[in-house]
Amino acid sequence: MTEPTKPTTTTSGAPVASDQHSQSVGNDGSIVLTDHYLVEKLAQFNRERVPERVVHAKGGGAFGVFETTEDVSQYTRAAVFQKGTTTETLLRFSSVAGEQGSPDTWRDPRGFALKFYTSEGNYDLVGNNTPVFFIKDGIKFPDFIRSQKRLPGSGLRDHNMQWDFWSLQPESAHQVTWLMGDRGVPSSWRHMDGFGSHTYQWINAAGERFWVKYHFRTNQGHETLTQEQADQIAGEDADFHRRDLFDAIEKGDHPSWDLSVQIMPYDDAKDYRFNPFDLTKVWPKGDYPLIPVGRLTLNRNPENFFAQIEQAAFAPSNFVPGIAASPDKMLQARIFSYADAHRYRVGTNHNQLPVNAPKSEAHHYSKEGAMTYSFPPASQPVYAPNSFGGPHADPAAHGDDRGWESDGELVRAAATLHADDDDFVQPRTLVNEVMDDAARERLVSNIVGHVSAVTIPELRERVIQYWTNVDATLGQRVADGLEPIESPTDTLVPEPTAAK
Ligand code: HEM
Repeated sequence: MTEPTKPTTTTSGAPVASDQHSQSVGNDGSIVLTDHYLVEKLAQFNRERVPERVVHAKGGGAFGVFETTEDVSQYTRAAVFQKGTTTETLLRFSSVAGEQGSPDTWRDPRGFALKFYTSEGNYDLVGNNTPVFFIKDGIKFPDFIRSQKRLPGSGLRDHNMQWDFWSLQPESAHQVTWLMGDRGVPSSWRHMDGFGSHTYQWINAAGERFWVKYHFRTNQGHETLTQEQADQIAGEDADFHRRDLFDAIEKGDHPSWDLSVQIMPYDDAKDYRFNPFDLTKVWPKGDYPLIPVGRLTLNRNPENFFAQIEQAAFAPSNFVPGIAASPDKMLQARIFSYADAHRYRVGTNHNQLPVNAPKSEAHHYSKEGAMTYSFPPASQPVYAPNSFGGPHADPAAHGDDRGWESDGELVRAAATLHADDDDFVQPRTLVNEVMDDAARERLVSNIVGHVSAVTIPELRERVIQYWTNVDATLGQRVADGLEPIESPTDTLVPEPTAAK
C-alpha cells in the first residue's frame, strides 16, 4: 500500500476539498447544485462507456512486434513485409456473439485482429481463429449475427434461431463443422492459430499482382477444451482467456505466432477448381503451400484497458502500399462497415487517439469534428488542389489501388461457380480426413448437445438433413444421438403467459 502523494483535482485541474463528502446545507440537509465537483463526478460516470462493439464485444489484447524474417519481396512491396523489418503491433482477441461480460469459453469463433503500425501507415488485418466463415455475402451479416444473439422478447439466446439460420444457409456448413469440432473452444487465445481468412491481394515493386491468404500458427501448440471443461470454466471465471493472456505476458512468457502465406498467381484465380474468393473455402496446401514470412510476438500488456483495447479501432480498409482488396464480396462489405462502426462507437476522430494513430506522419484534408486533437499547421490550405504547398496525392507512392478485371451488368447473384464449388465438399473433408475417430466422436457429441435445445420438430429434421449433406454417417449419428423433444413448439418466440 502506498500513501497518496498528490492532491485530487477536478478534470480541469483545480484542487478539490473532499473525495468523501458532498456539499450539503448543514450536516443533515440537502446537497446543493453548486457542488460542481459532485456534479462532474456523477456526470462523468454516466458517460464512462462507449457502445460495445456490435459483434466481438468481449475480448482482450496486447501489444507486440512483428519481425519479417524471410524475403517475400517478390510478392509484395509492403514495407512491413520486407526482410529484417520490425513493426510495432496490437493484437485484440475476442469472441463473436457474447456481450462484454460474457464467458470467454462459450463455443464461438475467436477474433484475431491485428494492427501493424507500419512506416507507410497502419495496416489492419482483422481475422479470426478460423480460415473460413459462415456466409459469402455481407448482405447476410446482420441477419446472421441477430440469429446468434438474443430473442427480442425474452432477451434469451435461442438454439432454434441459430440452427434455423445455419440450416437455411448451406454455405455455413464448413464453418459450423469447424465450430462444433474441438477447435470451437480453444483452451486460451495463446493456444490457437489466427487467419486473415479472406483472400487479399499483394503487389510487388514491379506492379505484379498475387492473391494471398494469411496463416498465423501458434508457437504455444494447439490446445482446446471439451464442452464440459468449457461449461465449468464459464461459471467459475468468465474472464478465463483475458486473464491467461495478461498473466502470461506479466510473467514474461511472451506468446508468439509464425506467419506464413499461401500465394496464388494472379491468373490461376480464373479457373481454379474452387472460387478462390469464396470465404467458406480454404485453399488446399497441396495446391498452394505455406510460405514463411515472419514472427509475431506479444510482449506488452495494455496500461489502460479502456483507452487501449476498448477504443482500439481495427478496419479492414486500412491497407498500405503493396496490399489491397480482392473480389471477395464479404471483404468488400467489411471495407465499408468497420470505419463506419468506429465513427459511431468511438467518434469521427478515432484515428487521432494514441492507440489508433499511425506512427508514420499523416497529411490529409479531414478536419474538425468532435474531439479534434491533432491539426495541421495554420499555413496548410484546407482544400485540394491548392497552390500553397498543401499535401498532394501521389499515385506512385499510393500503389494499393490495384484492382482486377471485372465487367458486367449490375446484378444481384451468387459468384460464378467454379468446377468443384459445393458447400459440403470441404466440411466433408474436415470430418473424414482431418478429424480422427476421437475428434469425430466429440464432434457428434457437441452437435447433439447443441441441437438438443432445438424444440421445433421440423427444424430438427432440417438440421439432421444438413449434417447428412455433410456426411451420411454423421447425419445418422446425430439423429441417433438426439432424444425426443420433450415439449415441442412450432414458433420461434413463445408468447409471454401474461399476454395469453
Ligand atoms: C468486429 C462487421 C465479417 C472479424 C466487427 C465490427 C463490425 C463488424 C461492425 C465491430 C467493429 C468495432 O466496433 O470496432 C462485420 C461485417 C462482416 C464481418 C459487416 C461481413 C460482411 C467478419 C469476418 C471476420 C470478422 C469474416 C474474420 C475473418 C471481426 C473481428 C472483430 C470484428 C476480429 C473485432 C475487431 C476488434 O477486436 O476490435 N465486425 N464483420 N468479421 N469482426 Fe467483423
